[in-house]
Amino acid sequence: MTTNEPSRTQWLGRWGFVLAATGSAVGLGNIWKFPYMTGEYGGGAFVLVYLACILCVGVPIMMTEIALGRRGRGSPIDAIRRVVTESGRSSGWSLLGWMAMLCGFMILSFYVVVAGWSFAYLWKMVSGGLAGSSVDDMAAIFGANNANPFTLGAWSTLVTVATMVIVGKGVQQGIERSVGWMMPGMVVMLLVMIIYGMFSGGFGQAVNFLFAFNASSLSSEGMLAAMGHAFFTLSLASGAILTYGSYLPRRASIGRTTLTVAIADTLVALMAGLAIFPVIFANGMEPNSGPGLIFMSLPLAFQAMPLGTLFGILFFIMLSMAALTSSISMVEATVSWLADNKGVSRKAAAWGTGIVLWVISTLAMLSFNVGADWTLAGKHFFDWLDYLTSRLMMPLGGLGMALLAGFVLKSQAVKDELNLPAGIYALWLFMVRYVSPLAILVIFVDALGLVAVDFGAHWLWLVLILLVLTLAGELVSPRLRRSLQTSD
Ligand code: PFF
Repeated sequence: MTTNEPSRTQWLGRWGFVLAATGSAVGLGNIWKFPYMTGEYGGGAFVLVYLACILCVGVPIMMTEIALGRRGRGSPIDAIRRVVTESGRSSGWSLLGWMAMLCGFMILSFYVVVAGWSFAYLWKMVSGGLAGSSVDDMAAIFGANNANPFTLGAWSTLVTVATMVIVGKGVQQGIERSVGWMMPGMVVMLLVMIIYGMFSGGFGQAVNFLFAFNASSLSSEGMLAAMGHAFFTLSLASGAILTYGSYLPRRASIGRTTLTVAIADTLVALMAGLAIFPVIFANGMEPNSGPGLIFMSLPLAFQAMPLGTLFGILFFIMLSMAALTSSISMVEATVSWLADNKGVSRKAAAWGTGIVLWVISTLAMLSFNVGADWTLAGKHFFDWLDYLTSRLMMPLGGLGMALLAGFVLKSQAVKDELNLPAGIYALWLFMVRYVSPLAILVIFVDALGLVAVDFGAHWLWLVLILLVLTLAGELVSPRLRRSLQTSD
């Protein structure tokens, strides 16, 4: 089916892929971004839309990406070109691969800055720089941390270099092993903090904030943010999962591995919420304090809890590791594309990518100090990288992948590759053909104000209409019925 299958590196087994994909999915998105976005977009309603998007959009698209990667055995561009050629379709679809690769690169450009914060706070914990600080000091400490472009730049440079060193060494070494202890470590640390939160006041308020559903707090913008975050947190449409899928052995089950990764990722995000919001409420902080939220709140808890310094150090080690196992996955697509197509070694590809990345991430880092006034439509360069990737490129890329697998490729090829039990395959097909594309389109149209109606809180009606439409779609689509009944 592919030309270079025998020579392509593969994971050591099912767990190798699961560990690496979990390492990619679980990162700053779960512990830094999920809590602050939940705080910004009003709590429970955001969480509910996010969970719905994980289930109805994220999981089917993750299965699709893994299948595309494994079938095409290459970077997103090459893999997609191969699978469309195999089905006799236009190679123009490989544009999706280009967009994914660019998207992973753009995400990394701001991700290294945030990972740099994590390293900087690790250092502050070790050197006692946070000791004795009050609630009010925390915002000032976060501000001071970002004010000096040289120190902030040094931390993000450190992350860039570490990422490129690991990527240059190849996919297996290091990744599988480090995620194996990092993930359980992270879960234990979060549990410690949740238990602390239960006894320090603010826990009930946190649970209420995270899980009480209040439809009126849900804006169109919040729904797009929740959907974009579902893509971000599962590392979708940015080359990572597709490229990792290209190293997956044929015998591994795509359905089971996807579910494992999605469940682990969601649990870590919810645990992070339960660890962080009690601290916020117990200290009278604002949930909508933006990207600095965890850095301003968690150190307060570490100061107050027994063995806090030790836990704080361990926590920031875990967070920095989680960031690294994600960041390496973001450039894997670019590096493997360069290495496969441009006749350069992995190492050279990694360093070349690293230099360009360093320049762009430095510009992103400057958004917090000397470039504080460089804004376009009220957003800094850092914000633009985040906005363009999460709110536009990932949902659009996901839409493209769903349509590609659902309608364009020969169903027999996709069916073979996914190799799912009949019922699950039918469900997957229904999702990628109707539910995911319609959900993405409706949220898009609503949030970008493309129609005059602001659906806003009437989104429940929308979901209902969506379901009716998709059911009708299933009933009237002869092609769908045929491909479900026969093997086409
Ligand atoms: N999923 C990662 C996180 O939640 O931190 C972020 C991410 C990794 C996004 C890899 C995109 C990607 F390709």
